[in-house]
Amino acid sequence: MAMVSLTINGKKITVPDDLTILEAANRHGIAIPNLCKHPQLTPFGGCRLCVVEIKGVPRPVASCTTPVNEGMEITTVTEQLEQHRKFVLELILSDHPNDCMTCESTGSCQLQELAYTYGVKGQEYAGERRTYAKKDGNPFIERDLEKCILCGRCVKVCQEIQGVEAIDFGYRGFKSKITTAYEDDLNCEFCGQCVHVCPTGALTGKLWKRKGRYEGVKETDTVCPYCGTGCNITVHSKNNEIIRITSRPWTWNEGFLCVKGRFGYPFVSSPDRLTKPLIKRKSGEFEETTWTAALEYTASWFRKIREEHGPDALGGLSSARCTNEENYLFQKFMRAGIGTNNVDHCARL
Ligand code: FES
Repeated sequence: MAMVSLTINGKKITVPDDLTILEAANRHGIAIPNLCKHPQLTPFGGCRLCVVEIKGVPRPVASCTTPVNEGMEITTVTEQLEQHRKFVLELILSDHPNDCMTCESTGSCQLQELAYTYGVKGQEYAGERRTYAKKDGNPFIERDLEKCILCGRCVKVCQEIQGVEAIDFGYRGFKSKITTAYEDDLNCEFCGQCVHVCPTGALTGKLWKRKGRYEGVKETDTVCPYCGTGCNITVHSKNNEIIRITSRPWTWNEGFLCVKGRFGYPFVSSPDRLTKPLIKRKSGEFEETTWTAALEYTASWFRKIREEHGPDALGGLSSARCTNEENYLFQKFMRAGIGTNNVDHCARL
């Protein structure tokens, strides 16, 4: 990979030649406003907020789609560029619900943040508004198409990261919208990556609606308990209840989760959850007991079988739903504790 030298706002930088101007600027701590570009996705070039001026080029260009070149002299902030960005935001917000008071994404909405930065209140231009009466009946993802700015991030993440292609752009011009095949309800893997990358409140989780945004919400970084992959998650809790799961982009799973990790948390507060061990009696009835009694009961049967029939009369099956550490301990227990190599894993069943 070759390196190129260029200047951005008078600062001389040297970067690999496969970067775009936006990437080069970000690497050197120069922020350029943008909306449709997501760092983990290929550029779309749709919002035109990231425009910059290049010496010798007659019109501003989108920095997210323009590759760097040797000797480029780039300016990211001029009065004209700032006016252009403000105008783009005014146009977007003129056809946007602007219901920040009740929007789930308030505080984490990139559109709201840019509107704040540029002092745009919204509805600057009266005109036709998009209205979509139909609500998506899927169980996990709230799709509010009136808040969609058509940045295409959801489409790209579904294609480029998840490989599912459950959604795409439909129609043209003012009627353009993100849609499913035949405009049916979303019926995908429900990984929620689209929710993760959406820069507005167009895509949010149904499970966390009205449960809490920031006030009184505690964030705890931990590891997903669902399988041995061990994705990093952030648990949002309020009043001792889990209200939402997210993942940070700098984790090893890069902020992406599966449906279980992102939406499979309500069991924690479910009244159906078993909180005490049960022993099944000969009558077939389950009886509540203590952990000590349950473990002693189980151990006494292991001991009895081993004494009467030898350790190989026992076998253990572990699970991909356990963590690596739990699986390690399980095989150790079977080999060193029981004395048998009869240990296997549900992934091989
Ligand atoms: Fe470049 Fe949207 S971020 S066009």
